[in-house]
Amino acid sequence: VKYLTTSLVVVIITAVIGLGWGLSEIYSRMSSSQAVVETALQGYQRLGRDIATTLDLVSNRDEILGHWNRQSTFTISIQDLENFPIPAELTMDFEGGEPLVLESSEDLSINYYMAASDQVMSLHLAGGLSGTDLSIQNIALTFLFYAGIILVIAVWIYPLTIRLNLLHRSTKTFGSGDLSARIGPSKIPYIADIEQEFNRMADRIQSLISDNKLLSRAVSHNLKTPLARLRLGVDALEESRDEEQKQVYFRRLNRDLAHMESLIETLLEYARLDEANVKIDRKRIDLKHVAEGLASSFEEGEVTVSVVNHGSPVFIIGDENYLRMQLENLLDNALKYAQSNLLIATRASGSKVVFEVHDDGEGIPLSDREQAIMPFWRGGNNKDREGHGIGLAIVARIAEWFDAKVVIGDSTELGGACIGVIFPVADAGSRMNTKRK
Ligand SMILES: Nc1ncnc2c1ncn2[C@@H]1O[C@H](COP(=O)(O)OP(=O)(O)OP(=O)(O)O)[C@@H](O)[C@H]1O
Ligand SMILES: [Mg+2]
Repeated sequence: VKYLTTSLVVVIITAVIGLGWGLSEIYSRMSSSQAVVETALQGYQRLGRDIATTLDLVSNRDEILGHWNRQSTFTISIQDLENFPIPAELTMDFEGGEPLVLESSEDLSINYYMAASDQVMSLHLAGGLSGTDLSIQNIALTFLFYAGIILVIAVWIYPLTIRLNLLHRSTKTFGSGDLSARIGPSKIPYIADIEQEFNRMADRIQSLISDNKLLSRAVSHNLKTPLARLRLGVDALEESRDEEQKQVYFRRLNRDLAHMESLIETLLEYARLDEANVKIDRKRIDLKHVAEGLASSFEEGEVTVSVVNHGSPVFIIGDENYLRMQLENLLDNALKYAQSNLLIATRASGSKVVFEVHDDGEGIPLSDREQAIMPFWRGGNNKDREGHGIGLAIVARIAEWFDAKVVIGDSTELGGACIGVIFPVADAGSRMNTKRK
C-alpha cells in the first residue's frame, strides 16, 4: 500500500510538472510570435500617423487618395468625425492624437484624428495581420494540460483496475468454496504486494482447512475402534456372571479407556501446535549444542547414542524448546524402531544446516516416506509398538515454522532409517529473537 501511494504521488507530480513545463514552453514560443505581430502593428501605426498628418495639411488630398487607393493594398478612407462611431471613453485619447485600432472579422483598420479638418482617416490593412488569438490558445493549452494529466493517470490506473478485477474474482471464487483460487504473478509492482498477501492468506486458509479435515478424519477413524471395543466390553461385562471373567473385562475396559485418553491427548497436543497460537522464540541456536545435550539424556541401557558434528558450530534461527521436541520425536522413533545404535549428525553445507537421526532398524520403505509425516499415519512395522503416528507430523509442523524441511532417507552409516531436518543457516548478522508476523 505504501508503494501504491508513493507511485501514485510520483506519477501525479511528474505529470503536473512535466506537462506544465512542456506547455509553458509552447506558450512562450507562441507569445513570442505574437510579439512579432505586435511590432509590425506598431510600424503600421507610425506609418499611418505620418500619412494622416500629411493628408491633414495638403489641399489636394482627393487626388492623392485616388492615386494611393488605386495602387496600394492598404486603402485609405476619410470621413467626418461626427460620422465616426467612437466610444465616449476613448474620445479624449483619440482626439489627442492616439491611433485607434479597430478589428472586425474581415477588417483591421487604424484610425487617426486629423485635427485641422476635424476628420478621421482610416488606414485599412486588408486581411489584417496574421496573428493568432492568444486567449483561445490559452483555453486550448489549459485543456491540453488537464487532458494530459488525465491520460497519464489513466495509464497508471488501467492495469490497476484489471488486477483489482482479478483480485475481486479470485476472492469471490475462493469465498464460494474453491480453495485453490490464486492470483497469477503480476508485473505491476505497485499491486504485487496485495496480491501476494492474498495468495498467502489463501494458502494459510487452505492448509488450515485441509489440516482440519485430516484431523477429523483421523479422529473418527482412530476413535471408532476403541469405542467399539468399549461397547463390546461393557456388553460382555453385563452378561458375565463369573467374577474372575468380570475382572478380565474390567481390565480390558480400562486399557481401552487409557488408549482413548492418550489419543485425545495427542490430538490436542498436535492441534495446539498451530503457529498462530504458540509463542515461538526466534533465536540463534547452536544445533550441535542441543544435539549433544539431548544425546546424553537419551543414553539408556543397551542403546548407544553418538553425536557426530561435521565442521564448525552450526547456527540456525529457531526455538530451543521446539527444536528439542523435534529431536526427541526423532530419537523416540529411532529407539522404537531400531535395535541398539543411534547416531545424531549435524552439519552445515552451503546455506543449509542439517541435523539427522540415524538408526540401525529396517528403515522406512520408499513408498511410505511421503505419508509418514502425515498426522496419524503409522507404518506396518509397528504391530505392538505404542503410538498414534503423530511424531513425524509434529517434527514436520515445527519445521514449517522455521522454513525447514523434513527429509526421510536411508542411513549409510547404520543401515536403517535416516530422518533429517534441513534448516536455512543463520548467518552471523541475522537478527536475534525476531518474531515473524
Ligand atoms: N526410525 C524409523 N524407522 C522405521 N520406521 C519409522 C521410523 N520412524 C518412523 N517410522 C515409521 O513412520 C511411522 C510414523 O512415525 P511417527 O513418529 O509419526 O508415528 P509413531 O512413532 O508410529 O507414533 P507416535 O510418534 O505418535 O508415538 C511409524 O509408524 C513407522 O512406521
Ligand atoms: Mg514416533
